Amino acid sequence: MTTLCGMFLDTGNLEEVRKYHALGIIRGVTTNPTILHKDGVQGGWEAVEQRIREIARLVHPLPVSVEVTTNEPEEMLEQARTFTAWSPNINVKIPIHGPEGGTDNLRLVHALEVEHDIRVNVTAMMSAQQCLLAAHAGASYVSLFGGRVNNMGYNACGEIRRLRGLLDAFDSPAKIIVGSTREALNIIEWFEAGADIVTAVPSLLETMLVHPYSKETVRMFLEDGAKLQRLLPSAR
Ligand code: E4P
Repeated sequence: MTTLCGMFLDTGNLEEVRKYHALGIIRGVTTNPTILHKDGVQGGWEAVEQRIREIARLVHPLPVSVEVTTNEPEEMLEQARTFTAWSPNINVKIPIHGPEGGTDNLRLVHALEVEHDIRVNVTAMMSAQQCLLAAHAGASYVSLFGGRVNNMGYNACGEIRRLRGLLDAFDSPAKIIVGSTREALNIIEWFEAGADIVTAVPSLLETMLVHPYSKETVRMFLEDGAKLQRLLPSAR
């Protein structure tokens, strides 16, 4: 699987995937059950399979993260096998622990990576400590939810810097994903802090790209270009 780093698009919307992939600025796609539900995936597993297969086909060989919808170990394993059979560029998101803090999920993460040769993105993490443990368990990707960290009053950049230092010190191959972006500034500040990958919603990429003064400047060039064309009628 390609593991290029940069921005992953956080969406389940096909048009958005098509648009930003064609711009050449994304290096993967992340989804979760909340995103797929918000982006109108209705009709049970068939609909989920259809949408994910389409996204994976559009961006292949770039990676696509698909999250399990259960916290039962046997069912998570079954879903992991099912998702990765849909396309070779799919990796499986497993939450760091269960809804009540049950700690078995890392056992599954380890088994998926080591025994089943399935790439795992450990998700829903709020601290460098959690991410370090996920990396030690063998996860290919460790996802820190930067926006939620900041929402709680902690400093996402500080956690990213600490995690970068730890993973480098351990020579860990795990890629740091920082998700849950809230502001356009998060994207570059989290890269600067040491993220390998930042997940971005399409509206934030638009904010990064389009600048009012660039618009004004381009308008000026076009207006003066038109004047030039009028002065030189033979020019095309
Ligand atoms: C990342 O992989 C997640 O899908 C996402 O960024 C979560 O963000 P949220 O805090 O907006 O739910």
